[in-house]
This record gives sequence, structure tokens and C-alpha cells, in this order.
Amino acid sequence: MSKKNIAVLVSGGGTNLQSLIDCEKQGMFGESKITLVVASKPGVYALERAANNGIDSTVLCRKDYESIADYSKALVDTLKNADIDLVVLAGFLTIIDEQVYEAYPNAIINIHPALIPSFCGKGYYGLHVHEAALEKGVRVSGATVHFVTPECDAGPIIMQKAVEVKQGDTPETLQKRIMEEAEWKILPEAVKLFCEDKLEVKDNIVFIKEN
Ligand code: GAR
Repeated sequence: MSKKNIAVLVSGGGTNLQSLIDCEKQGMFGESKITLVVASKPGVYALERAANNGIDSTVLCRKDYESIADYSKALVDTLKNADIDLVVLAGFLTIIDEQVYEAYPNAIINIHPALIPSFCGKGYYGLHVHEAALEKGVRVSGATVHFVTPECDAGPIIMQKAVEVKQGDTPETLQKRIMEEAEWKILPEAVKLFCEDKLEVKDNIVFIKEN
């Protein structure tokens, strides 16, 4: 397993960041480390989690840049200056453009709180995803980890985990169950596989190498 520098990009509470930090501490990523947290706004709790664990962090606010292109360039510069190998979008809600995808081909992964291709794409983020699932009346939902490509939520799928929808669920109860039973497990598992160089993408499909 080669040593990789991981950046985690966040916009909120950072429970997925926390699960990654906990798994790193348990040795799941070998010598690879979360070396940078990038937040899209100041004051988010994820920044406190980074500070509490001695991880460098920086804030890049979209409103401080004139365009998505300028913002994306600043993000790429930040990531390259920090020698980042893997970029994890863990509840990162700011739009970025192809400069970032081109700088990190098959090296940006995102966690989405539904079973893609359901309840994904533009406008499907956070609680909206769970509202849509409950409105449709699906019996199972879940989470997906995928590589990020220019088309929103359409990149090659790395891992998925299904979670039962229960009668009487609210968007909040469903969100919590999906985080606990799926997101906090499959995101670290996908990061582990990446760090072990076990993920291969062929024709938009992810293959997991056996050894
Ligand atoms: C998570 O549920 C994540 O799947 C979701 O935002 C939440 C962030 O929570 N991401 C999206 O909806 C992306 N489309 P966290 O800050 O506690 O990790």
C-alpha cells in the first residue's frame, strides 16, 4: 500500500469526516493520512473536528471568487500545494468545474445519501434527498460512494449499501439511519481500497482488484 495524502472537503457538520478520522486512527488506511480539510464556509463544525484532531484546514468561500472557474482554480492550487493524492467530497456542496476533475482523474470520490441512480443529480443534497425518497415511498434507500466526473452524481460507482426505510420515518430519521448504517461504513471502505491501489476504472465501471 503506498502512502497517500488525503484531503476531505466539507460544508457542514462533518460526521463523515469524523468517521474517516476514526478509521484512520484504527489503522484502516495504512500509512495514508488525512492531511487537509477544506471547508466551503467558515464556522462549520467539521473545522472543529479537524482542529481537534490536529489536521490542517482551510476555508475557501465561493463568494470570495468571481466565478466557478476562479474558485476551482483556487481549490486545485490549494490541493496541489498540499501534495494531495485523493480528494474526498464529504458533504461538500459547492459547485466546482472540470479543472478540478482534470487535475484529479479518478482520484475524487463523493458520498451521496441514496442509491444512485435514484434521488441524485442537481438539487439532490442533504435532507432533500431523503424528502424525495419518502415522497416516492421507496422501501429501501441507502448510500453510494462514487468517483466524481463532470456530470453530477454520474461517475463510476465504487460502493453502495442499502438501508431499510421504516414506516413513520421523517427525512431526519432516515438521514440518521443511512449515515449510521451506510455512509460512515462505505466511505472509509472506499478510501481504504483507493489507498491500497485496488480501484480500477474501465469504461465507467469500477473493478476492485483482489490483491
Ligand atoms: C451526508 O449525508 C452526505 O451524504 C450528504 O451531505 C451529508 C453531509 O453530512 N451529501 C450530499 O447530499 C451530496 N449530494 P456530514 O457533514 O455530517 O458528513
